[in-house]
Amino acid sequence: MSSDKKIIIAIDGYSSSGKSTMARHLASAIGYRYIDSGAMYRAVTLWAMRAGLIGDDLAPDADALVSRLGEISIDFSVNPDGTQHTMLNGEDVESAIRTLEVSDRVSPVAAIGGVRKALTSMQRAMGVEKGIVMDGRDIGTAVFPQAELKVFVDASAECRAERRYKELKAKGEDVTYEDVLNNVRTRDRIDETREESPLRKAADAVSLDNSAMSTDEQNEILLGLYEKAIRNS
Ligand code: CDP
Repeated sequence: MSSDKKIIIAIDGYSSSGKSTMARHLASAIGYRYIDSGAMYRAVTLWAMRAGLIGDDLAPDADALVSRLGEISIDFSVNPDGTQHTMLNGEDVESAIRTLEVSDRVSPVAAIGGVRKALTSMQRAMGVEKGIVMDGRDIGTAVFPQAELKVFVDASAECRAERRYKELKAKGEDVTYEDVLNNVRTRDRIDETREESPLRKAADAVSLDNSAMSTDEQNEILLGLYEKAIRNS
């Protein structure tokens, strides 16, 4: 299934559309490195919350945050079972970055030009040797416009909220479906309308609406797209 030829695979889409699950599965099936770019924005957000740079109105202090970006180091540790954990200044923050508290604050942080610039250059450096699957909002449009395979994933807001609600409940978070749906809708709006690399489908991306698809089905489709991209590259 894997090939000697290495390509870059960009998987973008709306919040909670299941991109990460698909991207992780594909990377493991073909022996590629998987990078969750959203985890990087979440880690910066968690750091800013702890540094007191995000107000009660959820608005970050953009100037202070950009001037202190040098204090933040983000890495991924790979566990023996292949799962990845996001590391913030050496601390494993994989669970801490997935809470609704962080979700409620991340999109305004990700709209800051200086933050995007710094993370984009880190993400490009990770793709220098190709053989990478990266998921996010702007991977096919801004980070790797030259990616050999671009996929844009979508599903209805209600369906995405339902999936994320179940995920958070399973982790023991005290949330309501309405809170999650609100968060999904608000992030969609901020991500789509921001000035810097807004969320949109790249002209050459393949659309995938997975509202009515099982994970097996979406994995199979993605693998087919990878095989086609390898043949054509
Ligand atoms: O919750 P979900 O997995 O859908 O989102 P995520 O991939 O963890 O991303 C969290 C937030 O980071 C998004 O809502 C965007 O505001 C931002 N983000 C971004 O701006 N650009 C990326 N390449 C990835 C994420």
